[in-house]
Amino acid sequence: MIAHLLPHRGRAAEAGVDVRGTHPEATSAAIGGACRWLWSAACACVVVAAPAFAAAPAPAGDAGAGARIYARCAGCHALAYDRTGPRHCGIIGRQAGSLPGFAYSDAMKRSGIVWNAQTLDRFLADPAKTVPGTTMGYAGVKDPDERADLIAFLQQHSHGPGCAR
Ligand code: HEC
Repeated sequence: MIAHLLPHRGRAAEAGVDVRGTHPEATSAAIGGACRWLWSAACACVVVAAPAFAAAPAPAGDAGAGARIYARCAGCHALAYDRTGPRHCGIIGRQAGSLPGFAYSDAMKRSGIVWNAQTLDRFLADPAKTVPGTTMGYAGVKDPDERADLIAFLQQHSHGPGCAR
């Protein structure tokens, strides 16, 4: 009876268990073998799935939180117009120091930087160290999570509706 429920008769037979016999021990050994086989198959799935989780990208910054951090920049910057600092509309993908009509330092113009999440992260961590001679008189945003949020905000607004002219 029980032997009819076994899904892997063939496998159990390969393993040397005679499932055709009606000895109770032989039947339970076959069940045990089948269960062990199913269990190890389940383990293999878990092992294969695990690296997929490990390889998931780091969570992106929170643009909403970044809006509050941008308040620190707003004394000198605006998205859509130049102030003490150049406007941030179009910042993602812009060559550093390249806005026509803004009086950049030579250091910024010659930095060779193109602004993206990585270059912004480096610059905003320590502006004077990343671009020695910059006239951006600001100590930087030291907290990496705050920088991630701020950069998410800049990415969202760089080409956002507030920048359309
Ligand atoms: C005290 C004024 C001031 C503050 C505060 C300030 N900046 Fe600036 N920023 C400037 C000036 C001035 C420049 C131009 C620097 C140069 O030419 O060397 C600049 C340049 C930049 C640039 C390069 C832009 C380009 O077109 O190449 C970026 C990016 C930038 N600032 C981001 C920020 C962010 C983000 C904050 C807030 C965390 C911030 N700045 C805070 C004054 C400021």
